[in-house]
Amino acid sequence: MTSNLDNYLATAVMAAKAAGKIQKERLWTGCVIDFKGETNLVTEVDRICEELIVETVLSAFPGCDILAEEKTYESLHSPVKWIIDPLDGTTNYAHGFPWFCVSIALEIEGDLKLGVVFHPMMDELFTAIKGEGARLNGKDLRVSGNHPLRSCLLATGFPYDRTRENENNFENFVQFQLSARGVRRAGSAALDLAYVAAGRLDGYWESKLNPWDVAAGILLVKEAGGRVSDFAGREYSIYTPRIVASNGHVHDEMVKILSSTDRDPLTG
Ligand code: IPD
Ligand code: CA
Ligand code: CA
Repeated sequence: MTSNLDNYLATAVMAAKAAGKIQKERLWTGCVIDFKGETNLVTEVDRICEELIVETVLSAFPGCDILAEEKTYESLHSPVKWIIDPLDGTTNYAHGFPWFCVSIALEIEGDLKLGVVFHPMMDELFTAIKGEGARLNGKDLRVSGNHPLRSCLLATGFPYDRTRENENNFENFVQFQLSARGVRRAGSAALDLAYVAAGRLDGYWESKLNPWDVAAGILLVKEAGGRVSDFAGREYSIYTPRIVASNGHVHDEMVKILSSTDRDPLTG
């Protein structure tokens, strides 16, 4: 199985690097922007990169299922599913703020097996294979040892429907700003998770994300020795909306804050 996963990994890395190259080349060249919602943008680069990644993985492994952000692909009921965010951080990209990445994960029979996050502007490639650890440009990754929360740097994000819906993360943001050393909102969930895996951030939480935002990143965090759960501290599935990821040392402190601000703890 390991060598088989290595082949999948090599293909995911090739696809992520090719997409990242396009993103870097076209940044600051004035790409076409469309709206998927009031604040939810999509650029021609998102679509071009998704096509390229899907083509690359399907030509290497025909017949796999694809779950990707920009298009719905008919399910072939394959046990092997690629989960793709061709450009995570589209709002940043559209504004020329150089903080975005490619995120590709592989699920086999519902189990996350590998994750790749590529940050083209920094030329940083984060990879993880289940049971084999996480790496950054080939070197082993480990979460930070920082604790308690007041010594920690955290990250989060706010949902696209924040102007209309009550679950807007504002209350959590205030509580964590008061309890941690700092909270960043950099605009790419996949990079936030990769940074927790790399020990550059100590914790991260967000709600209303999609599987493609987090699939690769959560495997990175787990394989780097961190912890991932829902807001109530229970096991997290990429198909559920609320995620907290940390170095493990401050996980309970984070869950305590999220449970105290959560209006409906039963939904995680
Ligand atoms: C978004 C980013 C952002 C998060 C959003 C995501 P996109 O993904 O990950 O950090 O806060 O909720 O949807 O739209 O740039 O691929
Ligand atoms: Ca995304
Ligand atoms: Ca995206």
